[in-house]
Amino acid sequence: MPHDAAPRAPLAYGGDYNPEQWPEEVWHEDIALMREAGVNLVSLGIFSWAKLEPRPGEYDFGWLDRIIGMLHEAGIRVALATPTVVPPAWFYRAHPEALPVSREGVRWEFGSRGAICHSSPAYREAAVRITRALGERYGRHPAVALWHVHNEYGVPVLECYCETSAEHFRSWLAERHGTLERLNDAWGTAFWGQVYGAWAEIRPPRATPTTCNPAQRLDFARFAGDAALENFRRERDLLHHLSPGVPVTTNFMVSPTQCDTIDYWKWAREVDIVTNDHYLVAEDERNHINLSMAADLTRSVGGGRPWLLLEHSTSAVNWQPRGIAKLPGEMARNSLAHVARGSEGAMFFQWRASRKGAEKFHSAMVPHAGTDSRIWREVTALGRGLAALGEIRSTRTVADLAMVWDWESWWAQKLEWRPSDELDARERAESWYAALFDRHLTVDFAHPEADLSGYPLVVVPALYLTTAAAGRNLRGYAEQGGTLVVSCFSGIVDEHDAVHPGPHPGALREALGVTVEEFQPLRAGQTVTLDGGAGRPRLTGSVWAETVVTRGAETVWSYADGPAAGGPAVTRHRLGRGTAWYVSARLDVPALDAVLAAAGADAGLPPRGELPRDVEVVLRAGEHGRYLFVLNHTGTEAEVGLPAPGTELLTGHRTAGRLAVPGSAVRVVRLDD
Ligand code: GLA
Repeated sequence: MPHDAAPRAPLAYGGDYNPEQWPEEVWHEDIALMREAGVNLVSLGIFSWAKLEPRPGEYDFGWLDRIIGMLHEAGIRVALATPTVVPPAWFYRAHPEALPVSREGVRWEFGSRGAICHSSPAYREAAVRITRALGERYGRHPAVALWHVHNEYGVPVLECYCETSAEHFRSWLAERHGTLERLNDAWGTAFWGQVYGAWAEIRPPRATPTTCNPAQRLDFARFAGDAALENFRRERDLLHHLSPGVPVTTNFMVSPTQCDTIDYWKWAREVDIVTNDHYLVAEDERNHINLSMAADLTRSVGGGRPWLLLEHSTSAVNWQPRGIAKLPGEMARNSLAHVARGSEGAMFFQWRASRKGAEKFHSAMVPHAGTDSRIWREVTALGRGLAALGEIRSTRTVADLAMVWDWESWWAQKLEWRPSDELDARERAESWYAALFDRHLTVDFAHPEADLSGYPLVVVPALYLTTAAAGRNLRGYAEQGGTLVVSCFSGIVDEHDAVHPGPHPGALREALGVTVEEFQPLRAGQTVTLDGGAGRPRLTGSVWAETVVTRGAETVWSYADGPAAGGPAVTRHRLGRGTAWYVSARLDVPALDAVLAAAGADAGLPPRGELPRDVEVVLRAGEHGRYLFVLNHTGTEAEVGLPAPGTELLTGHRTAGRLAVPGSAVRVVRLDD
């Protein structure tokens, strides 16, 4: 179908709108400004429970009726929230037991937000009541385009260690393990005499004098997510019933830098559309890499389907040590980087900067400086830009390879008493991702048990916990012709944090054709050198090395010094029709690049092109056409060769051969195909 044959909905543009913080006169100005900026979707009511239900069972919908009506008249759609992240003060007065308890036994207080024990029956009941009231009143309102349930499950607190949670945990465990005997076996309770003789003896893994049972902690992390998921499902099912045809979501925070408690592989299956919130790590000068990683992960948890960026910031946030403002052009670049990687729009926290409360120094679409400001000018320009890109909707981002990521493995590795506190799964994933980003490769993330057969290369940056099924899957992938690259300290334990039988890495030994005789964590500041022989660069590693024995694999780089000197460091194993690489050291990004060059040759990946560093090129494609996004994160003009002539959508210019992209700018070319 030609690109202009079907009328297409615009990309979403807008943000969290909190009209309850403002007198109604301001609402009129808000709507006029939203129209000026091209806003077409706002998230409403996220924190409005106390205003909507001022006393138990007594509702005040008048103000919400009015603002939804005004927005509707202005052609602005509403992502209507259930405000269940902020139960009102009256609720906690009646149910202080619904406040969550920390691992140390501190009961968190009312006065901020998100203080919820997800196992609390009183909370559940109150949340269902307000959700039902909203669904009944607005479920068929023509302005309501999306339901936004709760807000960011998982932050600021997910786990609750109270007695009600303990009871809930026990029933969850009974379902998971079936019998006490099996639980004792899975948790390895023979160690330190922790054997349970009755279910009632089992508690949440509260603060203990020394390290708590790691399998118990891992199960509790799983349980805590499931307890919240039960609450999400309850609200979602009610809304599906009361508001047929309107999609239901909850905003994720997939970036491992922002939320580490939710298994989004699991949650993505539960929402009608994946939505995500992302905030830059302002201090990081190349924070666009973390952004791309988060966007790729968001797209991937949803199986590649288009998703929606529900929150990011126009400039500084208020909750990092330094509220570093965005540079001119950065906001649009951030927004369009998310779009390039699959988002169907760009939304912000928040529409108008607050005057009061904890977030008053957070940037907004309408800043304290008002409309005579750079932010506002950029906000209106972005609105025009997104309007020009409407035709890309429903196309999909095209990836070059896959990276395996698993929240459960990360949780397990982070527990205490691992061989090195410094070897961090998140850091490994970020470093491998950065090396791939610098090679201008687009990454899909994949669950370790997912079908990987479509990818020429699969990178496993950190998979300490590898189930037997995942081990088989990764091996099968390589045997069938894939190129597998596994990084250190992967394949070590099973889903109960029990070491796989036999030498490490138990779950991946056969695939990799090596065994690891001993881990060799390095001293603080110590480095190791890897020698690859003639024609290969010497590489540097830190933090971690291993004594590796090849058992079918060939040595590609060996340790030139350090505790494993003379032994294999990077190996390559041919199996079936493919190869499996093992990287036993914690390498820096330039060293990872060298490994990728070598493994990439096995995978048939194109060699590094001539694209400058920090010029990001991403393709979205669909039956309507192919769209090449070029994001120039440098301050100087960059030239990019185009695979075909096309039309640049933000400027409307025809372009062929080479495209010049000014410093800090973005170009989106619809390729003539
Ligand atoms: C989160 C929340 C928002 C707001 C922003 C601030 O993403 O969902 O309500 O607090 O952070 O950056």
